[in-house]
Amino acid sequence: MVSSATAVAYTETPATSGAISVRNVRRVFVNASGEETVALERVNLEIQPGEMVSLLGPSGCGKSTLMRIIAGLDQPGEGEVVLDGVPITGPHHERGLVFQDPTLFSWLTVKGNVSFGLKARGIKEIAREVDDYIRLVGLEGFQNAYPHQLSGGMAQRVALARALVNHPKVLLLDEPLGALDAFTRMQMQDEILRIWEDRGTTMVFVTHDVDEAIYMSDRIIVMTPRPGKIQEIIEVRLSRPRARNHPDFFLIRSKILEILHFAGEIRENYYL
Ligand SMILES: Nc1ncnc2c1ncn2[C@@H]1O[C@H](COP(=O)(O)OP(=O)(O)OP(=O)(O)O)[C@@H](O)[C@H]1O
Ligand SMILES: [Mg+2]
Repeated sequence: MVSSATAVAYTETPATSGAISVRNVRRVFVNASGEETVALERVNLEIQPGEMVSLLGPSGCGKSTLMRIIAGLDQPGEGEVVLDGVPITGPHHERGLVFQDPTLFSWLTVKGNVSFGLKARGIKEIAREVDDYIRLVGLEGFQNAYPHQLSGGMAQRVALARALVNHPKVLLLDEPLGALDAFTRMQMQDEILRIWEDRGTTMVFVTHDVDEAIYMSDRIIVMTPRPGKIQEIIEVRLSRPRARNHPDFFLIRSKILEILHFAGEIRENYYL
């Protein structure tokens, strides 16, 4: 098992930056036969600096579309997204990305993967920083391992380190734990929370899993599809670390399932 890591010992990004403002965002996709899909219908959302927010909802409700727009990989047809007062017009390393598939470079070691972005930006003297982040995500001793030698959870830790080493103001996590087994998943939830508490980075976390959203988030943005929109925003006032069997946890879960019309249905792990 990978050991838990210690904190990185230099300047942290203060939680005074990383405010995201999603303003009236609309995104429509048109297919070859001219049919329209309204992926996002006038979405408005204010995310505070240092906040941990989950986007929760069934497939097709626009979670990834919203993440791609915040990342600057896609542009809304209408509206805008603003980070710390500056409109987002394209990708930037101040917004780190972690997806379900870690997409590591197979020919590079863990160290090579984590340092790749910094090197590409021409940043020198990165050895200590890269080592610090590899330690932060609990991969000490695996610096020289290649991706094929890593488990799914370890590969996802590398993807996390690769994003964090850029000191992003915002970390965008699109179902980062979706491909992991239940135990690794819970372990990684705690790792991400530990890093979040340590770094104060604003995090936007996409999940289908109701329990995961409650366990992780300050607020849960419940989205519904056709058209993709915010149905309701739930504030999770449970103290941390959270107990998944706390009565209030069940209450919040029931409320969310009701919003999503799953009330009364028994679904394994409440996975949508
Ligand atoms: N590039 C695209 N071209 C056409 N339609 C798209 C494109 N990207 C997304 N869509 C459509 O927009 C809607 C929202 O898609 P999106 O990927 O944002 O959903 P999601 O909530 O992330 O779903 P999932 O939980 O399955 O990942 C869907 O109906 C999808 O088919
Ligand atoms: Mg998606």
